[in-house]
Amino acid sequence: MELSEQDIQKVQDTIRNVSSYDFSDYSYNSFCRRIEKILLDYGVSLDVLLRDIQGNYNFMEKVVRDITVNTTELFRDTEAWLKIRTLLETKYADKESLYIWHAGCSSGQEVYSMMIMLCEIGMIDKASIYATDINENMLRTAMSGQYKYHEVQDYIGNFDKVFNPKVHSEAVPYVDMRKYIEVNKQKDYVKMERSLVEKPLFFKHDLVSGEPIIARKLDIILCRNVLIYFNHNLQNKVLKFFYDNLADDGCLIIGRHEGMIGHVASLYDKKGTIYYKRSII
Ligand SMILES: C[S@@+](CC[C@H](N)C(=O)[O-])C[C@H]1O[C@@H](n2cnc3c(N)ncnc32)[C@H](O)[C@@H]1O
Repeated sequence: MELSEQDIQKVQDTIRNVSSYDFSDYSYNSFCRRIEKILLDYGVSLDVLLRDIQGNYNFMEKVVRDITVNTTELFRDTEAWLKIRTLLETKYADKESLYIWHAGCSSGQEVYSMMIMLCEIGMIDKASIYATDINENMLRTAMSGQYKYHEVQDYIGNFDKVFNPKVHSEAVPYVDMRKYIEVNKQKDYVKMERSLVEKPLFFKHDLVSGEPIIARKLDIILCRNVLIYFNHNLQNKVLKFFYDNLADDGCLIIGRHEGMIGHVASLYDKKGTIYYKRSII
């Protein structure tokens, strides 16, 4: 079913009227595709969808979960992880504490990737990790630290790309993945090591709300592959919000296909996908 701009507006208005969610500044095309998919998957007309969103809060929550795109992987974009390692080992090695926020963490694979990285470079004990998402189902999976093997098997190899590149030397010793991840192909699961599962604080947070997640400033914010679902207006609002919530020497890491344009870009110094907070005099 092809939807008009007015149809999309009706969906956004209806959700906004019955909840605190506001999708008005999501990227129009991607939001439209999600609603068209939902109508097809649920086998309902737009009128029925709108009626049920209005009349049934749990149904509305389900629609919201289905609007979000939760694609993620372990060590997604391995090149970026090599740069994150360098960043941690240079900029943050001497800091006594490290406050990290994963905004839009989906099922947590990025969070576990970061913790494994921090373990490998001996910085895990000083790190406080916060991980948030709008989708509660994803957060539940993240908190369990357990994934279906068949769903993550394609990404398991990313571990070796980051830690065990082809050439080994004494200076770069081999890292055994089994220290961190238990893989059971027969029982179709992949489990993160217990101390990793217990470390982060996962909780629901809506980036549209602009509410700070903690009372202090953060050293590193990762918000990868989330901004692409927002329109320019919301992207700028969120990027300014991150700026306000970063420590003076903090930095923001966004996705490979994401960027900044307009005034907000002048708030950061960019190196690849890492954006360093600029002090404004
Ligand atoms: C494609 S995933 C990215 C996951 C991970 N950061 C990565 O790069 O692999 C995008 C995530 O952003 C979340 N999201 C979308 N809108 C959000 C919002 N307003 N506030 C918080 N999270 C949101 C979605 O639920 C989804 O889990």
